[in-house]
Amino acid sequence: MPSKKSFSWDALPRPIIALAPMSGYTDSPFRQLVKEICPSVVCFTEFTNIEGLLHANAGSLRQISFHSEKERPIIAQLFGNKPERFKKAAEALTAIGVDAIDLNMGCPARKVVSADHGSALLKNCALSQEIIKATIEGAPLPVSVKMRIGTTKYDPDYFFKFAKSVEDCGAKLITIHGRTAKQMYTGEADWEPIYELKKILKIPVIGNGDIRSGSDAVNKIKNLDGIMVGRATFGNPWIFAEIKAAFDGKKFKPLSLKEKLPTILRHLDLSCEFKGEKWGILEMRKHLAWYIRGIPHASEFRRKLVNVNSKDEAVAILSTLLRQVSEE
Ligand SMILES: Cc1cc2nc3c(=O)[nH]c(=O)nc-3n(C[C@H](O)[C@H](O)[C@H](O)COP(=O)(O)O)c2cc1C
Repeated sequence: MPSKKSFSWDALPRPIIALAPMSGYTDSPFRQLVKEICPSVVCFTEFTNIEGLLHANAGSLRQISFHSEKERPIIAQLFGNKPERFKKAAEALTAIGVDAIDLNMGCPARKVVSADHGSALLKNCALSQEIIKATIEGAPLPVSVKMRIGTTKYDPDYFFKFAKSVEDCGAKLITIHGRTAKQMYTGEADWEPIYELKKILKIPVIGNGDIRSGSDAVNKIKNLDGIMVGRATFGNPWIFAEIKAAFDGKKFKPLSLKEKLPTILRHLDLSCEFKGEKWGILEMRKHLAWYIRGIPHASEFRRKLVNVNSKDEAVAILSTLLRQVSEE
């Protein structure tokens, strides 16, 4: 096991700025990129199925693999529903050398919920408690929970009871996405329940949902310990520099495509290094499309970028786009 200083949520400087776990997006290359832009960001891995991890499934191992120096502290997120398996998974993650373990109790995806994982656990306080305790038993690492404000509706009594039980079981942090599972990603995240919860918990609380700018982060944090950003990072990992600047009372100047290009190329390199060029470039297609979102007359370039098959091809398309943008 790599030797490292033990990590503690309590010792992290406030406000905590976190990259949300996002399946299919927040892989090691993306996390490294975020850390290069804003080193103080705390990164969560994509959620990883405990069975996949315990059976050493290649995809699961890749989801929790990380650069041992550049991504610290790295928080590995797990999902599943069998306490004794969480204990084993926690032992495995300790051996791998992650800094902390987060338990997914918020995913609303049908495939996940129908297997009684993710947000299905929100309905089962007793099982969730067992899972938290078993994970703590399996790892000398801080264990946290990420959840939503409810399953089908927001019921304050139940929400507070559930979250308090998370704390009582020994979790060291809780992240709340201000939507119910039923809402999926519709409507607006409601942060009021999160502020109320913070008043009754002793452990740190991170708020999540709909942060799209530095001013959103500053306006939404209120009494919380930190904020977590998800979808607004698509094509915009610089949002973390914007948020950091906003918390520090500094101005942030939005970047031009020319200024962004070296980072986009860096992302390409990291992805191809981590996954090999063939697969790395396939994974980059969606990111490339996001990077050029909002650029006028770029639809023809987007069509090309979502079909690229090599790094050289991607670089050539981006260079042509940059020339066109500079000439306009
Ligand atoms: C594509 C995608 C994948 C996600 N995967 C996960 C996941 O693996 N684990 C998790 O806890 N939440 C996951 N989420 C939820 C986000 O972590 C976050 O809670 C949600 O997007 C709300 O934050 P936002 O409004 O800043 O995007 C995912 C969201 C999206 C859009």
